[in-house]
Parts: sequence; structure tokens; C-alpha cells
Amino acid sequence: MSAPLTHLPQWQALAAHRDALAGRTLADLFAADPMRAERLGLEGAGLFADFSKQRVTDETMRLLLDLARARDVAGRRDAMFAGDAINVTENRAVLHVALRAPKGATILHEGENVVPAVHDVLDRMADFADALREGRWRGYSGARIRNVISIGIGGSDLGPIMAYEALRGFSRRDMVFRFVSNVDGSDLAEALHDLDPAETLFIVCSKTFTTLETLTNARAAREWCLAAFGHEAAIARHFAAVSTNESEVRTFGIDPAQMFGFWDWVGGRYSMDSAIGLSTMIAVGPGNFAAMLAGFRAMDEHFRTAPPERNLPLVMGLLGVWNTNFLGAETVAVLPYAQYLNRFPAYLQQLTMESNGKGVTLSGAPVDHDTGAIFWGEPGTNGQHSFYQLLHQGTRLVPCDFIGFCEPLSASADQHDLLMANLFAQGEALAFGRSAEDLRAEGTPEWLVPHRLCPGNRPSTTILAQALDPRTLGALVALYEHSVFTQGAIWGIDSFDQWGVELGKQLATRIIDEIRAGAPAGHDPSTIALIRRYLAGKARP
Ligand code: F6P
Repeated sequence: MSAPLTHLPQWQALAAHRDALAGRTLADLFAADPMRAERLGLEGAGLFADFSKQRVTDETMRLLLDLARARDVAGRRDAMFAGDAINVTENRAVLHVALRAPKGATILHEGENVVPAVHDVLDRMADFADALREGRWRGYSGARIRNVISIGIGGSDLGPIMAYEALRGFSRRDMVFRFVSNVDGSDLAEALHDLDPAETLFIVCSKTFTTLETLTNARAAREWCLAAFGHEAAIARHFAAVSTNESEVRTFGIDPAQMFGFWDWVGGRYSMDSAIGLSTMIAVGPGNFAAMLAGFRAMDEHFRTAPPERNLPLVMGLLGVWNTNFLGAETVAVLPYAQYLNRFPAYLQQLTMESNGKGVTLSGAPVDHDTGAIFWGEPGTNGQHSFYQLLHQGTRLVPCDFIGFCEPLSASADQHDLLMANLFAQGEALAFGRSAEDLRAEGTPEWLVPHRLCPGNRPSTTILAQALDPRTLGALVALYEHSVFTQGAIWGIDSFDQWGVELGKQLATRIIDEIRAGAPAGHDPSTIALIRRYLAGKARP
């Protein structure tokens, strides 16, 4: 058995280095080394990331890269690209990179090149998307489809809704796109309340096609359609499916001709660029979808080929390890200064936390260190008026990822300057704060000085790109995908399984039967009492 991570000399060197750095603030680091902003600014796939406001020195970076070498991150990366079964607990390859490989590339899975099959599905998606966008695909009554409702959850929802919101500016404004995920019936009801079934297409997205929430919503949508048309034949014109499970799609009653497949080597949270992105393609068109894939691909290539010290995802992942394991940060705030990225933090929550929220190593031994951080966030500037107070003066260390764009995403260049001024101001304020001397010099009364003082020394990364276009979105998502990969490789965990979500699903299946029978049994006293109270409340007139 290999030695625990924290016993590695490279890990211990980092711990000693952290102790030696103690007391040196970001202000000290910049004062001693004004060129650090240049050295710690990295570029790749059209993205620029300024890591200089992280609490690191050149020595930290050298030691982190030593750790990456000791954990063979590059070897693991190559194994992923080679189609090895690196998802060990499910014995699966992890080949989302094949989803964006160019036609003509070769990526082998169990000896077979998967790229032609990927492009067959992309071509079928493009035909279907074009038929809908051009009004050639009609509903059962002959009406043009104007509403697309995507039904899915987790990886079969968060990617599509995030991408639709992010690329709204590129989307068909004469079509309505809505996303239903929650088994709470109000989600579907609100999505449908003002829609005409004759003009509505449902895309049921589920890798397994067994997910309770998705199938429940899909059945309810089916009933809604049948109630309107009174005929089973209508389903074929109003339903499409995206899944790996053709037999369940048939059982549900969707014609496999309207099924778009993908493969078990695509994890749910890594699937927005597979057929799961069908709604995205319908919204923005096949050309823009291809541009998004090109962005993903550019970051894949950067990750595969850029030297370690200039490798964006590698460095970003390593800095996450530094903040989590050596500086004790528990969370990461993701702060896009782009309203269109309003679902990006939610998307990243699944990507990062379902991937790296693990407590055992690949061999099943408990880890002896923290793993995945809690990701959360909101678009700036809204967050500034709610939780940023804690970021600036609270007692917790919260590393922040700021994301901004040089070109305005809306018509107003002036408002965009205002937005970006806020982004730059926040990074500066977090890093350098405001000293008591400054406050006194401004005439702040002594009693107020401690309240107004901002200690600074709070780390952040700023990611800047030219514009939030499809290509940039692809590169941005791939940046986080590979950063998550890097962290998982350092921690020695399986970033591609998600066993932890099973227990709750199993218990819910039992409890629903008990609720229907009115007889909870076999749970702890708290759970039994809660179910009884619910049953009593439900029975009340
Ligand atoms: O419950 C977690 C999960 O398995 C995710 O990993 C997945 O993205 C989601 O459920 C949805 O699964 P499916 O696409 O099979 O419906």
C-alpha cells in the first residue's frame, strides 16, 4: 500500500514552507516582488488567469509542482485521455474529452475509436436542431414548435441550463427554453402554465433513464400532452430523449428515432457537451455549439501539452490544494461578473463537489487530509450587497474566483466598465484591505477604526476573457473540469463516482411507500416523528 499523502516528503515540504511563510501577507509579497503579477499570470485557450493574488511565492509553486510530479498527475491525465478505466469503483473510462475531439481524431475505448460515434450523434443532433429552428419539425397538430422544455436533474440539467443562460445572447429569441428538474410538481407546473402543448417539445435527459425525479416529471409532461391531444401518437412529435439506456427510453414510449445517445464513459457532470446539450444546440444553433466544443478542445489541448508551470488547469488545481490543505480554506466563492453566468456557480457545485467530495482513496483507505472544498457563489455585483461583507471582514478564509470579460455582453459599454471596475476593486480590496493608518489619516474616529479596518491578505484568482461567447464558455468549463481532475489526482481519490448520493435515494424510495401506506417504520425516532407529523398535517382539511 502506498504511503498516505501527508507522509510524502513533497507534502511535508509544503507544510514546512507554509510555516516559514506565516506572517507574510499579500502586501508584503507584492512589495518584495512587483513582477509577480506578470509571472503568475497564465494564458491558455483564450483565457487569462491572474494567480498573483494567491498567497504563494515562486517557492510555493515549485513545491506544488513537485507534489504534482510525485502524484504523477501527468500520468493520470494521459491515462484519462487514453481511455483507461480511471473511474476505478465503477470500472469505467472517463472520456468526456472525446466528446469534443475533432472529426478524424482517434480516441480508443476498449480498442474501438469512439470519435466517429460522437460525430454521428452530433450530426443527428444538428439535423434535429435545424429542423426545429427552421420550423420543419412540427407538432402533432402541425403547429411550429416554439417551446423546448428540458427535463433532467443533476448533470442532465445543470449543464444545459447553465449553458443556455450563459449563451442567451446567442440564442433564438423567438423560442422559449425552460428547464425542469425538481420532483416538486410546482417546477413543471410553472414551466408549463402559459404554454400551448401544440407548440411544445419535451427533451427528457437522463443518462440512466431511471432517475426518479426526471421520470416522474417526464410522466407528468406526457399526461399533459395526452390530455391536450387525446392520442398516443402525439408523443412521438412532442418528446425526444437523451440517454445511454435505449431500452428504458422505449419502455417510456419515446421512439428511438428521437433518442440521442451517449456512453457510460461520460459522467453525468461531464456531459453538457454530449447529447445532453441538445437544448443548448437548439437554442444557439449547431455552429455555436461547435464553437463551444472547440473551446473545450482548446483547453483539453492546453492541459495535455502546456508545460506544468504555465498549465492553467494544473496550476489552478494545485492552488486549490494549497488553499484547502495548507491554508485551511473550506470553501471557494465563484463570482462571475456576468449576469449571463448566473447558473455557473450551481453548475460548478456539482462538477466540483460530486467529483471531489470523497473521504477515501482509490484503494478504499480513509484520506488523512481534507478533500474537495465547498463551492458556492453568485454573480457580482449582486453578491457585493449580500455576502461580501464576510469575505472582507469575517473570520473565515474564503478564496475567490472572479470571472470577467473585456467586451460588454449587453449594449451598454458604460455599464460594462462599471461592472468591471467593481470586479477589479473587489480583488484589490480583498488582497490589500485598508489599514488603520489610512483610516486615521482620513479622519476616522478612533473608536470606529477597528470596525472599518479591512485586514486584506485574502486570496483570489481573476479569470479574464475577451467575451462570453460559446468558445470561451467551453474553455472555461474545461478549465474547471481539469482543475477538479488535478485535485482528485493529488488527493488520490475517485473523482468520477458518486456513491454518496445512493443512500438518500434508497431511503426515499422506502419512505414514499410508508407515506402512501400511512405507516412509517424502521427509522430512527426523529425521522418517524417527522413522517407522522407530515401525515397528520396532510390529513388536515
Ligand atoms: O444523483 C446523482 C446523479 O447520479 C448525478 O451524478 C447525475 O448527474 C444525476 O443523478 C442524474 O442522473 P441521470 O442523468 O441518470 O438521470
